[in-house]
Amino acid sequence: MSSPVWFITGASNGFGLILCLKALKAGHRVVGSVRNKTKSADAVKQIEAAGGQVIELDMTESKESIDKKIKAVGQIDYLINNAGFFILGAVEQATEQEAHQQLQTNFFGPLFVLQAALPGMRARRTGTIVNVSSIACKDPQPVSGIYAASKGALEAMSESLAAEVAPFNVSVLIVEPGAFRTNFLAAFSPPRAPLPAGYEDTAVDKMRAHYSGNHGKQIGDPVKGVDRIYEAVTGEGMAGKLKGKVLRLVIGTDSWNRMRRNNDRFLGDLAMQEDVALSTDF
Ligand SMILES: NC(=O)c1ccc[n+]([C@@H]2O[C@H](COP(=O)([O-])OP(=O)(O)OC[C@H]3O[C@@H](n4cnc5c(N)ncnc54)[C@H](OP(=O)(O)O)[C@@H]3O)[C@@H](O)[C@H]2O)c1
Ligand SMILES: *[C@@H]1O[C@H](CO)[C@@H](O)[C@H](O)[C@H]1NC(C)=O
Ligand SMILES: *[C@@H]1O[C@H](CO)[C@@H](O)[C@H](O)[C@H]1NC(C)=O
Repeated sequence: MSSPVWFITGASNGFGLILCLKALKAGHRVVGSVRNKTKSADAVKQIEAAGGQVIELDMTESKESIDKKIKAVGQIDYLINNAGFFILGAVEQATEQEAHQQLQTNFFGPLFVLQAALPGMRARRTGTIVNVSSIACKDPQPVSGIYAASKGALEAMSESLAAEVAPFNVSVLIVEPGAFRTNFLAAFSPPRAPLPAGYEDTAVDKMRAHYSGNHGKQIGDPVKGVDRIYEAVTGEGMAGKLKGKVLRLVIGTDSWNRMRRNNDRFLGDLAMQEDVALSTDF
């Protein structure tokens, strides 16, 4: 088999750029996408120097436009929906435009990319779709409500999709990163509207300060995170054993702990209401 082809969105930075370079180093073919090649000239140079290609793609483009660009890439074996950003703010505070932009980038864009790549994967009976989600979906904390919603939509869709495309030998993996030391927290958009009065000293205020001050201090090493993603996709190395076995790849101690806590909470809730839940059947 000739070397596999990766298509990786958000290749200008962070996870996306590191994964592009790692796959190229392994001798695979890589097409990365960035929003603006001029703005991301340094990343483009690194990817091209390593033998990769870069195209321009904004996740907020129309389905038609995304479809055309993805079809032009040709064969894709590993599709990595990685591009994304974080709107940090209270739910009450989000403007219509901010909410739309968050969902467009983190959900509709990945959906349209995937829809364009899927026919080829089904026809070739091979393919892996990776959606980079966030622990924020399963454990949404204050000030990440709109972001968590965008990732939640992505995850619910991915789970359904996994069952739909399994007969075609296409697999789906949802990556659940905790806090990783990328550009992520520096790139977040501060909300346009001020925090409404009354939220001072609540969890909203505290979490906002926490996120704003955490850039550069995140516990996760993105190089190691990308190693695990690469392994789970290709079946090599430490995480290779998980290929095709898990729907969710949890990376980071913080993500792992929050997943466990969330799950325990859910099981506790279930136990408490068994009699209630089972009381409504005909
Ligand atoms: N780092 C973390 O703590 C963390 C935690 C959980 C989940 N994640 C997820 O991991 C993924 C990668 O993030 P990262 O940590 O590598 O952050 P990053 O360094 O900020 O990289 C984000 C990438 O997404 C791109 N992007 C943002 N908005 C876009 C749009 N509208 N269209 C196209 N591309 C867009 C950025 O491109 P530009 O250069 O053009 O802005 C950049 O390449 C994201 O989906 C994020 O939600 C990260
Ligand atoms: C791309 O980035 C360059 C440099 O930052 C900027 O001058 C240019 O206007 C951007 N192009 C678009 C289409 O936004
Ligand atoms: C399924 O896909 C894997 C790689 O993802 C490939 O090795 C295998 O040959 C495929 N199986 C079939 C039946 O096409």
